[in-house]
Amino acid sequence: MFIAIEGIDGTGKSTQAARLAAYLRADGSREVVLTKEPGGWDGGTVLRELVLGGKLVHPWSEGYLFMLDRAEHVSRIIEPAVREGKIVVCERYHASTLAYQVWGRGLPIEPFDSLFKFSDFPVPDLTILLDMEPEAALARVRSRGEEDAFESEGSAFMTRIRTGYLEQMKRAAAFWTCISAEASPDVVFENIVSEIKNRGII
Ligand code: TYD
Repeated sequence: MFIAIEGIDGTGKSTQAARLAAYLRADGSREVVLTKEPGGWDGGTVLRELVLGGKLVHPWSEGYLFMLDRAEHVSRIIEPAVREGKIVVCERYHASTLAYQVWGRGLPIEPFDSLFKFSDFPVPDLTILLDMEPEAALARVRSRGEEDAFESEGSAFMTRIRTGYLEQMKRAAAFWTCISAEASPDVVFENIVSEIKNRGII
């Protein structure tokens, strides 16, 4: 079972991913692996620094790095865990690349779709989209302190990314669920749990 958690910056993905993993662990029926992109594997930190430092120049560098990061993450962490019957909860996955590099940066979608297919990356059984107004999400990010290269792009950029997520959801509605992230973390989590139960994941 492979669950991805997506959303623009500041929607509370880390908090909800950690709570979901703890909840699924407490259920006890299956082992749970909590992981994230970028950088969720040994060696991923170098890549993370490169891409989040905002110093890359070529328009495709970012995209290449995220795909490379995903290739190692899938092979080393996600696929072995799924094969062993574990539940993988992954904060950000391929939908982030499409939302940020395609809708956000304006790169064409086709090369990313092809790379995904030819790399044999798994499609998540469920993608949970935490959705909220970009202005409100950015205000949360700013209140946390330092912004990374993406967060400092501002609300027009985040609005394009939000559209990117909503468009992707339309295309694969059966495998996605959209949960409002405007409510308190407890309410957001209750909604995630009821979705997980409705779908028979536990
Ligand atoms: P994230 O780890 O969520 O940042 P933080 O630890 O600050 O919460 O992700 C880092 C940034 O990378 C985030 O702004 C989204 C971006 N990103 C992409 O642009 N493309 C991708 O494929 C991924 C996985 C992330």
